[in-house]
Amino acid sequence: MQDIFVKDIAKYKGQEVRLKGWVRNIRSSGKLLFIIFRDGSGDLQTVAFRPDLGDEAFEKAKTLSLESSVIITGTPKAHQKLEGQYELAITSVEPVQIAPEYPIGKKEHGPDFLLSNRHLWIRAPKQWAILRVRHAVYYAICEYLNDNGFFRFDSPILTPNACEGTTTLFEVEYFDEGMAYLSQSGQLYLETGIMSLGRVYDFGPVFRAERSKTRKHLTEFWMMDAEAAYVDHEENMQIQEGLIRHVIRTVLEKCDKELEILERDKEALKAADAPFKKMTHYEAVEYLRERGSEISHGSDLGAPDELLLTEGSAVPVFIEKWPKEIKAFYMKRDPENENLVLGNDLIAPEGFGEIIGGSQREDDYDLLLGRMQAEKMPIEEYRWFLDLRKYGSVPHSGFGIGLERLITWMTGIHHIRETIPFPRMIYRIYP
Ligand code: 4AD
Ligand code: MG
Repeated sequence: MQDIFVKDIAKYKGQEVRLKGWVRNIRSSGKLLFIIFRDGSGDLQTVAFRPDLGDEAFEKAKTLSLESSVIITGTPKAHQKLEGQYELAITSVEPVQIAPEYPIGKKEHGPDFLLSNRHLWIRAPKQWAILRVRHAVYYAICEYLNDNGFFRFDSPILTPNACEGTTTLFEVEYFDEGMAYLSQSGQLYLETGIMSLGRVYDFGPVFRAERSKTRKHLTEFWMMDAEAAYVDHEENMQIQEGLIRHVIRTVLEKCDKELEILERDKEALKAADAPFKKMTHYEAVEYLRERGSEISHGSDLGAPDELLLTEGSAVPVFIEKWPKEIKAFYMKRDPENENLVLGNDLIAPEGFGEIIGGSQREDDYDLLLGRMQAEKMPIEEYRWFLDLRKYGSVPHSGFGIGLERLITWMTGIHHIRETIPFPRMIYRIYP
C-alpha cells in the first residue's frame, strides 16, 4: 500500500492509497460518512459508504471525534462539486487514538482562551496557513541573502552588553561573571563577522522587555540581522528593498492557498512589489504636521504617524536621516548634517508599521567613542566592538528585519501574536 500526503493526491487518481493524520471534521448522513481529513500537508474530504465498508467498520469509523488521529485508506477521485479538487472514497478506517471532546469547537472563542490553548489552536486552518507563510518568508529571506553573497554567522543570545539601549534588557545571572543579558539584536557581533566574511547575517530569537501592550510587540521575536562591508547607506536601502520584494514575490508564488484561507488582499501585496518611497525624517514630520499630527522634529514616529505616512501608498516607505538623539549610538553621522544619522526605518503599507531598522555604522574610532561616552556607556564592556574601528575599519551598513512584523503584513492579520508558534508578551508566557 502506498502511503501518501494529501498534497500529492492528484498523482494517485484511481489508485488505492493510505493517508495518516487527523480528523478535522466528521458528519454522517444515512449511508454516508464524511470525514474532513488533514495531515499537515493539506485537507481532504473523505467519504465512506456503508455498504462498501460493511456495518461494523462503518460504525467504528463513526466513533471518530474531532481531532482524533486516524489512518485512512481509499481511492482518490475527482471531487463531485469542486472542480480540480479531489476526494477520497474510503476503503478502510483505522482509528489511532480517539480524542475526547475537543476544547476548540466551532463557536467563537475569545483571544485569551485561544492563546491559553495555543498548543491546540495551531491546528486551525488560519493558524496552519499563517505558520506556512512564516516558513515561506523565512526561506525567502535566507534565499535572497544566500544569492547575494551573505554568509550565515550566528550571534550569541547570552551577551555581556546591550545592543539597543538598556531599557528593554532581560537579565540573567551568569555564574560568577555577574549579569548577562538576552540579546536584543545580533548586530554588534555581525559587525565583527563582516571583517572575516564580508557579508553576514544571523537569524534567531531576540528579546525585549517591552512594556508596550500593542498588536505589534512581542517580548521574544525573531530577527534577521544582515551586515555588509563597504556598503553605504544608499546601497543598504537597495539591499533591503531587494530582499523585501523577493519575499513578497515568493509569498505570492508559494502561498496562494494560504492567502486565500486568510482572505488576504493579494492585489495589495502585488502592488507593494514596486520601487519603494523614500523620505527623510524631517520631510516625514513636515508631511505629518500638514495632515494634523502634533509630532515634533525631534520625535520618534508613533503608530498613528506610521499609518498616516503610508496612507494611500501601495509600497513601503523608507524614513531616513533621523535626529541622532532618538537613534542608537552606533549609527553613522550624516556628513551633511551632524545632528542627523544615516539610519533608516522601513514602514510597511496598510498600517503594518516598522518592519526594518537599519543604518550605516559609525566607523571612526574617535567619533564612536565620543558618542558612547556621551551616552555614559560602559566602555570597557564594548572594547571588542571599538577594536573593529582600530583594526581595518571600513564603511559598513546593515539592518534588522522583525520576522513577525513582516509575517503580519504578508498575511494581513491583525495581531502579531498569531505569527509565531508560541507568543511571549508581557502578560503571557503559557503555554
Ligand atoms: O529597529 P530595531 O530595534 O533595530 C535593531 O535592533 C538593529 N540592531 C537591527 C540591525 O541594524 N541589525 O529592530 C529591528 C526590527 C524592527 O524594525 C521591528 O520590525 C522588529 O525588529 N521589532 C519587533 N518586533 C516584534 N516585537 C518587538 N517588540 C519588536 N521590536 C522591534
Ligand atoms: Mg527600530
